[in-house]
Amino acid sequence: MPETLTIIDNRTGTKYEIAIENDTIRAMDLRQIKIRGDDLGMLSYDPALMNTAAVKSRITYIDGDKGILEYRGYPIEQLAENSTSYLEVAYLLITGELPNQKQLEEWCSDIQKHTFIHENIKKLTEGFRYDAHPMGTFISTIAALTTFYPEAKDIFSAEMREKQIHRLIGKATTIAAFTYCHSLGRPFVYPANDLSYTANFLNMMFKIGESRYTVHPVFEHALTVLFILHADHEQNCSTNVMRSIGSSHVDPYSAVAGAAAALWGPLHGGANEAVIHMLDEIGSVARVPSIIGDVKDGKRKLMGFGHRVYKNYDPRAKVIKKLADQVFAVTGKNRKLDIALELERIALEDDYFIKRKLYPNVDFYSGLIYEAMGFKINFFPVLFAIPRIAGWLAHWQEHILDQEQKITRPRQVYLGHRGRTWVTIKKR
Ligand code: CMC
Repeated sequence: MPETLTIIDNRTGTKYEIAIENDTIRAMDLRQIKIRGDDLGMLSYDPALMNTAAVKSRITYIDGDKGILEYRGYPIEQLAENSTSYLEVAYLLITGELPNQKQLEEWCSDIQKHTFIHENIKKLTEGFRYDAHPMGTFISTIAALTTFYPEAKDIFSAEMREKQIHRLIGKATTIAAFTYCHSLGRPFVYPANDLSYTANFLNMMFKIGESRYTVHPVFEHALTVLFILHADHEQNCSTNVMRSIGSSHVDPYSAVAGAAAALWGPLHGGANEAVIHMLDEIGSVARVPSIIGDVKDGKRKLMGFGHRVYKNYDPRAKVIKKLADQVFAVTGKNRKLDIALELERIALEDDYFIKRKLYPNVDFYSGLIYEAMGFKINFFPVLFAIPRIAGWLAHWQEHILDQEQKITRPRQVYLGHRGRTWVTIKKR
């Protein structure tokens, strides 16, 4: 079977033979399809990049129809079940392999060395209004790191890249926790590097200077699993931004800040916050059918439902649903759980959702756990961004080292005016 595609341009009758590789054709091969010799040639038009593979990647695999998610070939369910630390999974994503004991210890130590932030960054955090959305503060503070580490622009030095990776993963939880404490007027709690990544984060968030505070092991475990589930998701909106910004060869702090900004939107990582607002607005199980009716009438969306790639149950949502029981056994059930379960039950039986293959995604249940653990609702997107930094950095590194990549620069189909003549302001 020849690995080619034959295209006949009916405008000219010309026949083209285009190579197929990995079930794809190269969009640049379409450029030979021309009417005249001086034509630019044919472009493919793909709004929202629904059918465009812009990279070859070896990091994360998703089969959306079967509901499969793998990091570096390991199924997400196995990583969530067996990995005892988020940093182990971050190492896997960034280096491509699971670490042995020595590698893991070195990696954790390298990251922990960078958990403290410059006191000026602390002052910067204090400069934000107390009621600023934590994600706005988080994004801005991450962006500001570039001013503290100018050597980060040396992106083709493996040593420099590694250092910024340690710094970004190490400082993300401290910046997030300081953001949180500032919003509540609480004193900042400095990192405790004898704790795990997630325990240290919870300690900085909730300790309030109380020396007897200890992190509940169920919360530490739950956050570890949630961080693992959120660590990467191949070419989603924010990762595409990370790659795109990185393609200009800017430093990784600027690129991570841009990716985090893309994540914040309610259609992406901001959905976890939007789900809780939606459940609050619904208020009771009795109102669920009328909300489903509104969704079917096109009046609103069901937040936490649907996915560009998954046309099956999001495997992350399955793990989170189980995790919720463990957390609620400690905190008592979140009263919104019944509304969420009823929404899911009705939606999964309804033709509207069945026909469109709409299932709960990662954000549908995660917010219920975060809320039960005591996080404020507007902090949820930050809880998504912290672990996703490992994924963004893995993609950033893969991208800038890929010999086939260049600065990202899509084309457009221009439909506007051409060659107009200047009109003075009085005559307009
Ligand atoms: N509620 C109701 N209808 C929906 C929903 C929803 N949540 N999502 C999609 N649809 C409908 C949509 O209206 C369209 O219907 P029709 O064919 O009649 O026009 C059909 O399903 C296909 O939807 P689409 O808008 O073409 O799908 P998309 O791939 O462009 O959007 C999405 C994917 C995630 C943005 C969308 O499903 C959505 O807005 N969901 C709610 C927000 C959300 O939960 N986002 C979190 C995604 S998972 C976390 C992450 O970002 O990684």
